[in-house]
Amino acid sequence: MKSRKILVTSALPYANGSIHIGHVLESVITDIWVRYQKINGNECLYFCADDTHGTPVMLKAKELGIEPEELIRRIREEHIRSYSKFNINFDNFYTTHSDENKEYAENIYKKCKEANLIFKKEIEQFYDSEEGLFLSDRFIKGQCPKCGAKDQYGDGCSVCGTTYSPDDLVNPYSSLSNSKLTKKKTEHVFFDLPQMKDFLEDYLKNLSLQDPIKNKLNEWIEDGLKPWDISRDAPYFGFEIPDEKDKFFYVWLDAPIGYLASARNWAENNDINIKDLWDEASDFEIHHFIGKDIAYFHALFWPALLKSSNIRLPESINVHGFLTINNEKMSKSNGTFINADDFAEKYDGELLRYYFADKFNNSIDDLDFNEDEFIQKINSDIVGKYLNIASRVSKFIEKNNNNLSAAIDEGFIQKNLTKIDEINKHYENLNLSKSVKIIMKMADEVNKYINENEPWKSSEEKAVEVSTTAINCFRVISILLSPVLPSITSKALNMFNESSNYDFNNIRDNLVNTRINPYKPLLKRLEKAKINEEIEMENSDLINIKDFAKVELRVAKIVKAEGIEEADKLIKLHLDVGDLGQRTVFAGIKSAYDPENLNGRHVVLVANLEPRKMKFGVSEGMVLASSDEGSIYLISPDEGAKPGQLVK
Ligand code: 2FM
Ligand code: ZN
Repeated sequence: MKSRKILVTSALPYANGSIHIGHVLESVITDIWVRYQKINGNECLYFCADDTHGTPVMLKAKELGIEPEELIRRIREEHIRSYSKFNINFDNFYTTHSDENKEYAENIYKKCKEANLIFKKEIEQFYDSEEGLFLSDRFIKGQCPKCGAKDQYGDGCSVCGTTYSPDDLVNPYSSLSNSKLTKKKTEHVFFDLPQMKDFLEDYLKNLSLQDPIKNKLNEWIEDGLKPWDISRDAPYFGFEIPDEKDKFFYVWLDAPIGYLASARNWAENNDINIKDLWDEASDFEIHHFIGKDIAYFHALFWPALLKSSNIRLPESINVHGFLTINNEKMSKSNGTFINADDFAEKYDGELLRYYFADKFNNSIDDLDFNEDEFIQKINSDIVGKYLNIASRVSKFIEKNNNNLSAAIDEGFIQKNLTKIDEINKHYENLNLSKSVKIIMKMADEVNKYINENEPWKSSEEKAVEVSTTAINCFRVISILLSPVLPSITSKALNMFNESSNYDFNNIRDNLVNTRINPYKPLLKRLEKAKINEEIEMENSDLINIKDFAKVELRVAKIVKAEGIEEADKLIKLHLDVGDLGQRTVFAGIKSAYDPENLNGRHVVLVANLEPRKMKFGVSEGMVLASSDEGSIYLISPDEGAKPGQLVK
């Protein structure tokens, strides 16, 4: 089969903050697919970039007292580092704040203008006169028009659940300056999307995209497309619109163009003409990977822009759902937010790839992360099934001077090899969970094969043959898993001197009668590291008032204190606890106190401690004392406290 040429992108993360494991989910799915294409003999390039423009970036830079350019430079470096912890292998991770992107944005705009797709219209917008800013909806707050709840956002009320637009808010104010908002007129630039209706309907028919999303998009088209406001007023961090004064392209105009700019930047650095990569005439397929919240931008606005400028259109848009944490929306205030870097500090980022792959079946449903389930999955599948094969049989091969036998169980190997096509089909269709499950089933079979053939009981010759068969299967499984676990499998394939030159072509070649490298353990069982440790620690160290009330503390008077001769630490205390009567307590205070000096002294007693049977009698409570290495200090109430009084 002729090899394919494929250009792949995942959504550009905003440059106003760190990435979280939801971003990682998307890049992992994309990266697995890209790696699968590569080892399957296709030419595949993966482009991404930071999405750098817009008000939030501008405000964040202001807050930090730096220029936006400096902020996006820092964030880009951080993002590249964070993604690399999950072995995401971008061919280029660029920025939308680039010369290439500016040039493309201006050219595309020019083409749209020539095609009469651009018009201007005066609109009214909320204006924060203190900040000197027109505000986007997300910065507008006010009172709910329905229930009157204060400080609600412009899209809906968090108290009564009503949805509305910012225009409906009572006493709208700016969440930036807290000042009262007024409406101000301003002229904006629009892209006339309704003119593209026929094209979009047609385009959607051939676009590879999950049905529920396609249906939604068709509904939107039927309900009537609206012109798209592509301008924002100064001050704004972005590209100025040619021939306009103080107008900037809206961030969502130049963000997807960033895919193209990233590809072009890569092409130029590699002496390739972009026309051979992303152009009407090029033979590269284009595939986008995105979350379900941005389908409108990618499947309507973006193709419309490309079409108007005669640039090649994507053949597929692969949409995934959101990542939830313990079935809750990921949010900082819920304590369900997991930063990518925080995760990678506790666990090898590569392992999260496996967990996601095991769950992802190319549906747009949300996918849940649960830490216990993650640990259990890795321990059971990667440690307990996959790597277990090598660790069980490697010693028999080592005993044979690391030589594989000439004989091998062809029948058993063939049975496994027949699964390869199905596994590949599922990879291709992004049904990653099916691929992974078939591969693990294979690992189960191999472990069963080892159990049944009992190399530890058989002759040396037979043991090496069984082990050679098993280790060949281990090699096949490693290659099949390599898109998901590139680092672990590359180390595993080192055994066969194949850490980088394997592919799906030579996967069926059995290794016999040859020397291999000894197996080194590649992964220990995971222990729970608690990703949100700080938060949990705080909580678990604190007790509430009820917890404290469980401890009954009473003032007690020492009526008699005797040293116990056979015990060098203990003093026997006879205590008067008022209404509670007399108590006997053995206290380990002899090193610091002379019994005679204790008579008549008031102390604090834990009165509801379970009685403890000791060598010299029963101790009916405990007296409180502070201590350091050298000494012990009994705690006494102030003058006047009476025996039996509650301490609380
Ligand atoms: O939703 C987001 O996080 C956007 N920054 C995605 C942009 S994708 C592309 F269009 F640039
Ligand atoms: Zn309300």
